[in-house]
Amino acid sequence: MCGIFGYVGDESAGPIVYRGLETLEYRGYDSAGVALRSGGSDELTIEKRAGEVAALSVPTVPDAISAIGHTRWSTHGAPTDENAHPHTGCDDRLAIVHNGIVENYEAAKADLDEHTFTSETDTEVVAHLLERELDSLEESGPDSPPRDGSPGRPDGGTASREGESADAPDSSDVAWRVRRALESVVDRLDGSYAIAAIHERDDCIVATRNESPLVVGHGSNAAFLASDVPALVEHTREVTYLDDGDVAVLTPDSVSIYRDGRRVEPSISTVEWDADAAQKGGYDHYMRKEIHEQPTALRQALGSRVDVDTGTASLDVDFPQGYLESVEEVQFLACGTSAYAGRYAATLFESLADVRATSVTASEYAFTGGRDPWRTLAVAVTQSGETADTLSALREARGAGARTLGVTNTLGSSVTREADDALFIRAGPEIGVAATKTFASQVSTLALLAIAVGRERGTLTAATAREHLEDLTALPGAIQQVLDREEQIRAVATTFADSDAFFFVGRSYGYPVALEGALKLKEISYDHAEGFPAGELKHGPLALVTDETPVLAVLTDGAGRRESLNNVAEVQARGAPTIGVTTAGVDAGSLDVAFEVPDAGVFSPLVANVYFQLFAYHVANEKGRSIDKPRNLAKSVTVE
Ligand code: F6R
Repeated sequence: MCGIFGYVGDESAGPIVYRGLETLEYRGYDSAGVALRSGGSDELTIEKRAGEVAALSVPTVPDAISAIGHTRWSTHGAPTDENAHPHTGCDDRLAIVHNGIVENYEAAKADLDEHTFTSETDTEVVAHLLERELDSLEESGPDSPPRDGSPGRPDGGTASREGESADAPDSSDVAWRVRRALESVVDRLDGSYAIAAIHERDDCIVATRNESPLVVGHGSNAAFLASDVPALVEHTREVTYLDDGDVAVLTPDSVSIYRDGRRVEPSISTVEWDADAAQKGGYDHYMRKEIHEQPTALRQALGSRVDVDTGTASLDVDFPQGYLESVEEVQFLACGTSAYAGRYAATLFESLADVRATSVTASEYAFTGGRDPWRTLAVAVTQSGETADTLSALREARGAGARTLGVTNTLGSSVTREADDALFIRAGPEIGVAATKTFASQVSTLALLAIAVGRERGTLTAATAREHLEDLTALPGAIQQVLDREEQIRAVATTFADSDAFFFVGRSYGYPVALEGALKLKEISYDHAEGFPAGELKHGPLALVTDETPVLAVLTDGAGRRESLNNVAEVQARGAPTIGVTTAGVDAGSLDVAFEVPDAGVFSPLVANVYFQLFAYHVANEKGRSIDKPRNLAKSVTVE
């Protein structure tokens, strides 16, 4: 997670950035910090400390009109003062803040042996790389950007990139050098990042992003930068959503965006949100925050467990030697959203590991039979690790002699104590009653298990495993693309909010997503919503379909698109509005609304699910529902 806020303008920067951090605190509260530039002394003042934003006093450097700030949700390194952002190199010339995970930071650090590090973070490595790049730019010639219309440096040097707009000089020498240094450093980074940098010698902020959000706010004699729009709306509604690879240079009177080294016109959108509502704790609800946390949650779930090159998924579970080879059935025991994750996983296990797999509603497990406990792996899937029905099914399976595995988000929960083994989905805390990010993390973690089992049993080749692992590791970026389209989804949800009922359909991996889409909508909007296998509509539910009942269809890869399109045509013939999620670039017929996802193979429906989450959220929000605490429900259900 982590929140970034930046300001450069004609007012005192400290209090403005501090306020921005307070608004962004939902993104992380392990530590907070700011770097402010004093115009009088040409130096940076950095204040940072572990704990919430409130632990930091409002920074007061009277002549500072530019500053960047950060709220941290720890990934690399404990939540300490030292690991708090901003970070610098060996000197305090330049400071940066970062949101994301730089995966190759250790390799980069090994190449910086003359540098001294003061934190355990991946971010500090980036600060040192930038410092080294600035040193070399300073050493290599006069410190001036092109100002005379020529594409190169004024001394005739060649530091300018080919294609750079000749009539668009940088705002200053310093801005030019920092931009160049940042472009060069991020070329060598793997992973996700939103990075903002500030230099002691100029009132400008230089920023870029890859798979982590970053939005520029356009003010009057001011420019803002934030991880998310809610922190901007009290200052401006005119924003530019940066694309991956964009570099933004903010000064008090200009915002310049560079793409592939060429300056491009910023595309400005007007935010429609009411400023007061948007201020409520940053995100207006935990649920929305948690939907937006999915890219980070997935990186945590997958991170160190995946080796794409060798097609290996390593999970921290020690099954007895030879156990996985002998398993004949995997049973997923769970409730609600976790049960739909189990259903998705069952199809993955059958297809990737060629082992019989079933998903059983935990509260029904006691009434099922026909299992051979000695050859069955019973997997209890539970976010909280405390769901009574699931624990009861787990005990039933264990009592019958099955080996058990708890897949959970909660360290130390009952399931971790009662199951033979535990596997953590690493999604981070989920507070909204409606499960969102944990569904994505459950499916992804179980996919790794399916791959590991398939490899162990020799049913999955390394090459095929590699393809699936590539699709999995691309999920954070693919989901971010959906999140970046939230405004479009909100508009569609508003249009259909008054419908009589909603039907969700999908096949194969699209079916559990249809069930989950319907569950999300019903539990927070209180509307009637049902999920079906697309092919089942004609066997009964079609009688309910009218022009007042939108049908939402998963039409991506991995969801039986060709056949499902016939079912979509059947509901269209009955007048139903259709909203489909398709794979980008694939013909999906004549839907009333078509949303796209990048091709993520069998995980494409998991990306489609993010549209359904946001759709449900915005329908419920339109109706003024109690989104984080829906009536009659609770987060952790500890009664049978
Ligand atoms: C729905 C939801 C519930 C839970 C279910 C199981 O949004 O949150 O359906 O998925 O109560 O909870 P856990 O996963 O904690 O066992």
